[in-house]
Amino acid sequence: MSLIKWSSTESPEIQIGNRLLSSRYFLSPLAGYTQHAFRVALRELGGVGLCTTDLVLASQMLSRSRKAKALLKTSAEDNPLTVQIFSGIAQELVVGARWLEQQGYEAVDINMGCPMAKINGNGGGARIMCAPDAACQMVADVVDAVSIPVTVKMRLGWDRDSITAPLLAREFEKAGVAAITIHGRTRNQGFGGTVDLEGIRRTVEAVQQIPVVGNGDVCTVEDAFHMRNETGCEAVSIGRGAMLDPWIFCKIERTVRGEEPFVEPTMEEQIKFLVRHFTLMVAQHDDYGCTLIRKFAAWYGARLGIPEDLEDRLRRIQSIDEFHEIVKQIRLRHGERASSIPTALIKTPNGPVERW
Ligand SMILES: Cc1cc2nc3c(=O)[nH]c(=O)nc-3n(C[C@H](O)[C@H](O)[C@H](O)COP(=O)(O)O)c2cc1C
Repeated sequence: MSLIKWSSTESPEIQIGNRLLSSRYFLSPLAGYTQHAFRVALRELGGVGLCTTDLVLASQMLSRSRKAKALLKTSAEDNPLTVQIFSGIAQELVVGARWLEQQGYEAVDINMGCPMAKINGNGGGARIMCAPDAACQMVADVVDAVSIPVTVKMRLGWDRDSITAPLLAREFEKAGVAAITIHGRTRNQGFGGTVDLEGIRRTVEAVQQIPVVGNGDVCTVEDAFHMRNETGCEAVSIGRGAMLDPWIFCKIERTVRGEEPFVEPTMEEQIKFLVRHFTLMVAQHDDYGCTLIRKFAAWYGARLGIPEDLEDRLRRIQSIDEFHEIVKQIRLRHGERASSIPTALIKTPNGPVERW
C-alpha cells in the first residue's frame, strides 16, 4: 500500500460508519479535561471533526451513577460526539451500547488502551488486547447489538513483544467496527518514550477499508501531517496537543483549505476562551464548576502569562464572583510573566495510577 502524501486536493471530510465528519482531525479523550465544557469551547474555535467523551465505566452508566451522567452530558453544539465505554465484561458493553443508542447517542467507542492498573485488573482496558479471541468476540457482540457505528481505541499492544494492534485491527474490521484509533505506544510504555509511527503504519496496512486514526504526540500542524504522511492513517486524534493549543484544529483546517496561516490568538481571545470554558462548566455544574476549573489553573496561568499570585487564586477559587474578579485582574496584569505554551502541565498517568 502506498503511503498517503497529505495534499490540498484530498477531501477534508471522512466517513466513519454512517457518519460523514467534516474534518479528519479529532479530539482525543483526556479524562478530567475534555468534558462537555471544554469540548464546546473548543468546537466554537472551529476545525474539530469529532470529539469523544472521557471513558465511562459501562457498569456506572447502567446504574445511572452521577459520575456517568456528568460524563455523558452533551448538547446540540457538542456534535458530532462519540461515547467511549469500557468494561471487562462483554455483556455490560453490549447492554451499555444498546442503552446509548436508545438515548440517541450517535456512536460508541470501546476503550482498549487504558494503562490503568485498576481497569486492567478488572479485565477491561489494555489487558483485553492480550486475549485476542475474547477481544474479538467482545467487539463483535457490541457491533451486532447496535446499528450506530462502533469504533475501538487501543494501544499498539501490551509490550514490545506483544504488538497485537495489527492483528486485532484486522479482526475488528471483520467484526464490523467502523474505525480504529491507535495510540502508537504499548501499554508498558505508559506515556514514556515517543510514539511508534511504524507501529501505527503496520496497523493501517493490516486493515482493508476502515479508517485508522493515528494518535500520539501531535502538538502542531506539522506533527499532524507528519503522522499522516508517515503512517498513512486517514485521520488524526489529538489529545494533549489540543489542551496545549486549543486553536490547533483551526490552524490545521486553514492549512488544509490552503488559506492564510492562522494568526495566533490575541490575549483577549485567550481570556475569552477561559471565560467561555468556565461559563460552560458552571452551566453544567453550578458552583462545582469552581472546583473543576482549578486543575486548569497552572495551564491557563502559563498560557496567559499571569503572575503567580493570580494563578494561585485560580487554583483555590471558591466562587463564581471570585472567578470574575480574577479575570478582571488577568486583563490588567497579564504579561507580568512571559506567557508560554505550558507543555509540562498536563499530568500523564505514569505506571499504575489511581486515576487518569
Ligand atoms: C490525563 C489523560 C487522560 C486520558 N484519558 C483517556 C480516556 O478517558 N480515554 C482514552 O481512550 N484515552 C485517554 N487518554 C489517552 C489519550 O486519549 C491519548 O491516547 C494519549 O494522550 C496520546 O495522545 P496525545 O499525545 O495526543 O495526548 C488520556 C490521556 C491523558 C494524558
